[in-house]
Amino acid sequence: MSKTLIEVDGLLPRFKDLIKNTSENLASNIVLALDIDNEDPKVLVKKCVEIIDTVSPHICGVKFGRPLILRLSLNMQIRDLIRLAHEKRLITIMDAKINDVAHTNLSIATQYFDAGFDAIIASPFVGWEGGLDTVFQEASKRNKGIILLVHMSHKGASQGYGRIVMDPDSTEKIPQFILFAKNALAWKADGAVVGATHPNNITVVKKILDENVPVFAPGVIAQGASPKDAIMAGADYLIVGRGIFSSSEPEKSAKKIKDEVNSTIKYKC
Ligand code: XMP
Repeated sequence: MSKTLIEVDGLLPRFKDLIKNTSENLASNIVLALDIDNEDPKVLVKKCVEIIDTVSPHICGVKFGRPLILRLSLNMQIRDLIRLAHEKRLITIMDAKINDVAHTNLSIATQYFDAGFDAIIASPFVGWEGGLDTVFQEASKRNKGIILLVHMSHKGASQGYGRIVMDPDSTEKIPQFILFAKNALAWKADGAVVGATHPNNITVVKKILDENVPVFAPGVIAQGASPKDAIMAGADYLIVGRGIFSSSEPEKSAKKIKDEVNSTIKYKC
């Protein structure tokens, strides 16, 4: 099994503390979305290794997606990529968007955690009891993280995440994603994903979560959002895929985004 950063350090921090320490040590708040594809598994692994090697000085973590798992399955190649990231002191996140019933959710989470991932992304739409309860309990037992999908970045996201619902506590009418942000706080999630394409959503969520749950924002560069605006709105980490790996010079692009984020953070302070 892959040696995790937790084992390397002999400490047992929560995932949100682990990524905070990692990003401070590496001076980067960028999580690389490893959405590279190729029909030939050998070529695919080679490309993944190359991109991790190339941009590792400018990132704090790597997010794996389901397309990559479908190509390689949870076999040694994926475990080797997780190990490679850990050897470079990077955290690893599995973007599983878990959203089934409790027993299958638990099986999914167990398999990803066994493979070596430090955290998993899950969807709060399925709720706590009989939904994500088992996943949070399993993560807590293993000191792993669960990151909730609070609002997505694509145009249609508002049809689900932005629809108006009734707050069961106050009976007020509020957007769905605000309830999800409250879930992230109440369930002690280790992160909340909020799309960067609507920075005002990040600001609203950050107000609810404050320093208790970090905000991860995808949607910059390739989807048009600005890293600076996302950080100013309250994002703690940026998830960046094509803006790095599809660039003609991935290392330069990763450094440019990292530098922009770091100077924005300094300006904010
Ligand atoms: P790009 O290439 O657009 O990749 O930088 C974004 C990554 O983030 C994942 N992801 C999301 N992307 N809105 C997004 O645009 C979301 O709400 C979201 N949640 C996760 C996406 O799968 C890709 O890996």
